[in-house]
Amino acid sequence: MESGWRSLGHGPRAAYPDCVSPDTVTLRPATVADAPLLAAWDRQPHVIACSSDDPDAEVAFDGIDWADELSNSAYELTYVIAEVAGEPVGVMAVCDPHTEPSHYWGEIEPGLRAIDAWIGPPEWLNRGVGTRMMTQMLDRCFAEPEVKAVVIDPLNSNVAAHRFYRRLGFREEGRRMFDADDCLVMRLTRQDWEGRA
Ligand SMILES: CC(C)(COP(=O)(O)OP(=O)(O)OC[C@H]1O[C@@H](n2cnc3c(N)ncnc32)[C@H](O)[C@@H]1OP(=O)(O)O)[C@@H](O)C(=O)NCCC(=O)NCCS
Repeated sequence: MESGWRSLGHGPRAAYPDCVSPDTVTLRPATVADAPLLAAWDRQPHVIACSSDDPDAEVAFDGIDWADELSNSAYELTYVIAEVAGEPVGVMAVCDPHTEPSHYWGEIEPGLRAIDAWIGPPEWLNRGVGTRMMTQMLDRCFAEPEVKAVVIDPLNSNVAAHRFYRRLGFREEGRRMFDADDCLVMRLTRQDWEGRA
């Protein structure tokens, strides 16, 4: 049976159709069983658009093999699925960019975490899930005393994501090319996260 809040808060006749209670977004580790779901999300136009500026791209992340990615712990990337009432709606990848073996971030100091985040089903965009899942992840990151800041690298063209991250307290560090991708590096310091209103 649905909780009172959820029946009030969702659906076309809901009292608060555009928002999600903080309690309804839960995080769990991704497993290999999530590979088909993530592969399906990679076909969504908004996921493709956040992974590449190529207007002809038909799949996000160059058609990554999710079963391989999720089962290969050597990458030292942690994938986390965000769920609303048991339905997977988003995913985040978290790593220590200093030690991550592919050295995607190049020379970067220790004491950081890097996060990628995206919502899968388009009907879950813009309903507060992204804010809730990132807030929980940022709390987890900063719960580790050695973490001084969190960095992200949205495409420079992804201005909607920049607004989203700015609202969470991230500040722009500058544009940077990651291989062929023109990105905007943004950083959230522990001080800004702990001092937020
Ligand atoms: C960025 C993202 C994770 C935010 O999650 P969300 O649940 O949509 O965000 P919330 O509802 O908490 O906040 C809404 C904000 O996200 C922004 N947003 C970013 N990308 C968006 C997209 N493709 N579609 C709709 N909204 C998007 C909205 O513009 C909105 O900000 P605004 O009110 O200033 O316009 C999500 O929109 C998303 O997955 N976007 C596509 C993938 C992406 O850009 N990921 C980040 C790349 S690093």
